[in-house]
Amino acid sequence: MEIKIVSDVKNIECDVLVAGMFEKEKTFSDFVNEYVIEKDKFEGKFGETYLIQTFGKLPARKVLVLGLGKKEELNTDKLREAVAKATKKAMSIKAEKVAFLLENIGFDYSKQFVYGTMIADYVFDKYKSEKKTTHIKEVYVAANENEVNKGIKIVSAMNFARNLANEPAQFATPAELAATACDLGLETKIYSKEECEQMGMGAFLAVGQGSTREPKFIHMKYTCNNPKKRIAIIGKGITFDSGGLDLKPASSMLTMKDDMSGAACILGVMSVIKEFNPNIEVHGLIAACENMPSGSSYKPGDILTAKNGKTIEVDNTDAEGRLTLADALCYACELKVDEVIDLATLTGACMVALGTHASGIMGNNDELVKNVIKTGKENGETYWELPMFDDYFDSLKSDIADMKNTGSRWGGASTAGKFLEKFVTPETKWAHLDIAGTAFLEKPQKEFIAGATGAGVRTLLNYIIEQ
Ligand code: BES
Ligand code: MG
Ligand code: ZN
Repeated sequence: MEIKIVSDVKNIECDVLVAGMFEKEKTFSDFVNEYVIEKDKFEGKFGETYLIQTFGKLPARKVLVLGLGKKEELNTDKLREAVAKATKKAMSIKAEKVAFLLENIGFDYSKQFVYGTMIADYVFDKYKSEKKTTHIKEVYVAANENEVNKGIKIVSAMNFARNLANEPAQFATPAELAATACDLGLETKIYSKEECEQMGMGAFLAVGQGSTREPKFIHMKYTCNNPKKRIAIIGKGITFDSGGLDLKPASSMLTMKDDMSGAACILGVMSVIKEFNPNIEVHGLIAACENMPSGSSYKPGDILTAKNGKTIEVDNTDAEGRLTLADALCYACELKVDEVIDLATLTGACMVALGTHASGIMGNNDELVKNVIKTGKENGETYWELPMFDDYFDSLKSDIADMKNTGSRWGGASTAGKFLEKFVTPETKWAHLDIAGTAFLEKPQKEFIAGATGAGVRTLLNYIIEQ
């Protein structure tokens, strides 16, 4: 899809002209108003569409009237959703050249427009022998060029992340994630299993030890002259989560190729970071491995020693993500960065609490947490802060080690947050994003088709470029 910025959208010769219409108001064209509004009583309710042939009366072959609802109720989220809806409709009628006429919107819709149309255009049909989707080739819109270009890069990072997370676990292995990182043209170090052993990453390595695939610890670095700030972003990189010896039931395992969505997000962000030239140093970290049951698996009752020397009694091998993140957090803090943000498909409990529309967020610094929430909100990603009361650590107390890895089922997202906190040095500002519910959809939702959503990419990239 190519987005072309034009000022006179109405006069573009195209397959479909999408014309935004506020509820009970008129469109730009008398012809459309007469047939669609007066004769057919189309009201322009939010999300409703009406397709009409123009028979040479307008430069566009067809007009798709797009209901935007009441003007005072339109916001960036609804605008994006409406644009996505029109995009999907245009794709379904095999339109290749589509123009968007969005008048009197009341705010700069440029970036949201790009999000809506490009996210809707995404398909994952790599493994289909017959590719059925017709993509829109050219999109015309009157918008701010800078914001459009920003949006295009951000969505291309999302697509990168979505492709990786949609990829089956048989292909998206730890080695493959490492190879992907190495191809990004950044300073990158891949640590082998032996090197991780030397670094003392006993928690991370235990998780991967049941798999025939070698774990890889990935460190990518972007820097610039005199960085204003130094941050680390960490993604959970479990390329498949079977649960380990505490094996998941079949139905819960079905989508567990997505358990590297955090890692996919980091790779997506790092894939475009140079194009934005941000003024900060960014370290992208992934502890990649597979959680499998076998004769060499780690077991309930095992005691692991993390990189910071803390000991962990395993009470459930399915709470593996926090073990891998523990060592990655220690590594990040040793870099003496100012801020650490981790993203993880960490707990089913977070998904139960917040569903698929919002990710959980926790941390040790109010300002960082608030800033991430705000950046997310401005870019179509919702975060809801979950508590970090000390009481949530109670169930993690162990008789024979410094802590257990799992604890109580109740309040599981917060318990996981309290566990992670033990691996963050107090002087490091830290936010933890639990994307278990938002990273992978079992059915289409708003602008997304089923499958990976690229959760976190918009938030992290915008957060980085706003610094
Ligand atoms: N990867 C899962 C969490 C998850 C669940 C992600 C559903 C996406 C959708 C994680 O490793 C896990 O298995 N968590 C357990 C923790 C439990 C053993 C404390 C869970 O949520 O059941
Ligand atoms: Mg698990
Ligand atoms: Zn997991």
